[in-house]
Amino acid sequence: MIIKIRGLNFTYKTTSTEVIKDFDLDIKEGEIVAILGQSGSGKSTLLRLVSGLEIPNSGEIKINNKVIYNKETFIEPEKRNVGLVFQDYALFPHMNIEKNIMYGLKGLTKKEKKARVNELLELVNLKDVNKRYPHELSGGQQQRIALARALAPNPSLLLLDEPFSNLDANLKSKIRNDLRLILKKANITSIFVTHDQVDANVLADKIVFLSSGKIMETIELR
Ligand SMILES: Nc1ncnc2c1ncn2[C@@H]1O[C@H](COP(=O)(O)OP(=O)(O)O)[C@@H](O)[C@H]1O
Ligand SMILES: [Mg+2]
Repeated sequence: MIIKIRGLNFTYKTTSTEVIKDFDLDIKEGEIVAILGQSGSGKSTLLRLVSGLEIPNSGEIKINNKVIYNKETFIEPEKRNVGLVFQDYALFPHMNIEKNIMYGLKGLTKKEKKARVNELLELVNLKDVNKRYPHELSGGQQQRIALARALAPNPSLLLLDEPFSNLDANLKSKIRNDLRLILKKANITSIFVTHDQVDANVLADKIVFLSSGKIMETIELR
């Protein structure tokens, strides 16, 4: 298992209700897992815990057999090798596409960075937009750039938070299929969260049903 989560519990400091309860999850290399749940069920919180933006009360998270969180260990978010794609894409508006994608690339020469950017633009089927700015792209194109930016540093795990919520219905069904192809081609282990059963059916290898922070059921689709 590339990802192993055991007995995760979490409460926001400002409230006393437990938002994530005894959460367990195993993910194989290259597997796409959908966490399906209603608004408020704890989906975004779970991703924040895995990425290190919040600290669990208890439990353990391992990535590639390395403990990134337990009672004794807290690995900083930037050292977890986890990529994130948010609902609103969060592209940097003042940076062109090339600079957006280069943002997370460290320890490479300028030339190597440019080559990596082109490789990613090819992967997401968006060539020759390097010098454009985010506002010069459609919603669906911005979504693919956000994906390219998250994939650029070659993360061990990709987290996607409701990645289709800003797209209209037509575009959504196309992007959904494309996204599965892109993730499978790059063999990226992913967790994506959604409230939409169809999103989960189309994209995922496995669906985890979340309700009030608890797993209700897990279904293997593929
Ligand atoms: N920063 C926060 N402080 C306190 N409570 C929060 C915070 N963020 C989310 N919550 C609460 O935690 C629960 C789960 O929220 P969230 O993980 O955002 O759900 P989802 O992404 O499934 O809609 C909700 O009840 C929400 O109100
Ligand atoms: Mg959310």
